[in-house]
Amino acid sequence: MPRKPEALLSIRNLVVEHPPVSGSRMPLKAVRGVSLDIEPASIYGLVGESGSGKSSLAHAVMQLVSPAGGQAFFQGVDLFTLNRSALRKARQEIQLVFQDSLASLSPRRTIRQTLLEPLNHFRIGNATMRMEKVMASLETVGLDPVLADRFPQALSGGQRQRVAFARAMITEPGLIIADEPVSSLDASVQSRITDLILDLRDRLGIAFLFVSHDLTVVQKLADRVGVMYLGKLVESAPSEELFSKPAHPYTQALLRAVPVADPRHPAPVALSGEPPSPLTPPAGCVFHRRCPDVYEPCSIHEPAESFVIGEKTLQTCEHRVRCHKWNSVN
Ligand SMILES: Nc1ncnc2c1ncn2[C@@H]1O[C@H](COP(=O)(O)OP(=O)(O)O)[C@@H](O)[C@H]1O
Ligand code: SF4
Ligand SMILES: [Mg+2]
Repeated sequence: MPRKPEALLSIRNLVVEHPPVSGSRMPLKAVRGVSLDIEPASIYGLVGESGSGKSSLAHAVMQLVSPAGGQAFFQGVDLFTLNRSALRKARQEIQLVFQDSLASLSPRRTIRQTLLEPLNHFRIGNATMRMEKVMASLETVGLDPVLADRFPQALSGGQRQRVAFARAMITEPGLIIADEPVSSLDASVQSRITDLILDLRDRLGIAFLFVSHDLTVVQKLADRVGVMYLGKLVESAPSEELFSKPAHPYTQALLRAVPVADPRHPAPVALSGEPPSPLTPPAGCVFHRRCPDVYEPCSIHEPAESFVIGEKTLQTCEHRVRCHKWNSVN
């Protein structure tokens, strides 16, 4: 897949392995050759069941886990070739937000100290400017400035996650990688945080890699969606296209499992069975043991990536899928 010149982040053939777990001598391949592009000021939603490799991919971009292969071009430069000081500089441009805000904020630092830390670390501005930025960032994420002198434990989960976004945006990054940032919040707080993410994209032009197992949240947020299964990206498309015309049987099954608050809509159908272990991935298509449409080649040959070209779906919208059914149509 050629690299897109206009992309902010281009991941190519990324492989992530974790050290062998007890009882095995083989490393666990959590991500197996994933390529994707994130455009500036856009939200890329990465979905899939638990264990499909979403976090491993997200963390490998910033080398919180070491990639075992592939490339990650940020503004055209491969992050995996950078030395320590260049990677440190890149971290100003790519920030991370995690699910557990309590664990990611130091209990010994006030919110003001927490927000000053990246400004001091990257030597941004003088003392007065830094203080102004702290206050402006609190305002951007909709927090009362009086909270600056509180500790994270004194804040609600939603307020803490806003602080996490304030800390991520304070260095004016091009990209925020957010791994399940709203999963532990209740529905109304989730909705306010997703509005904040849309606002940060629209007002500040920040791009997001938004990792989530929750398709409803991703549908609200994402410009483009990628679907992972057992370490592979099995489908990717513009959000509207993916939710209206899912092409991969796995995506179709995920969407059938989403509850919809409309009595005319069919009842959700849970996807049956469990994904295979990444230690013993099946031959052929990764999804063939659970696929309702499985046929002869599926258990033998791995499907190549192909474009979905339908009535209204043009190659230009880049709807890509890994499924033999689509190989035979193109
Ligand atoms: N630090 C680790 N050591 C060993 N195995 C890991 C580690 N982190 C994740 N895994 C395994 O890698 C696979 C992918 O996990 P993960 O990337 O966390 O998926 P997701 O975020 O989609 O739930 C899973 O089988 C998980 O058990
Ligand atoms: S390649 Fe075969 S098993 Fe895999 S998703 Fe397509 S039809 Fe199903
Ligand atoms: Mg995860």
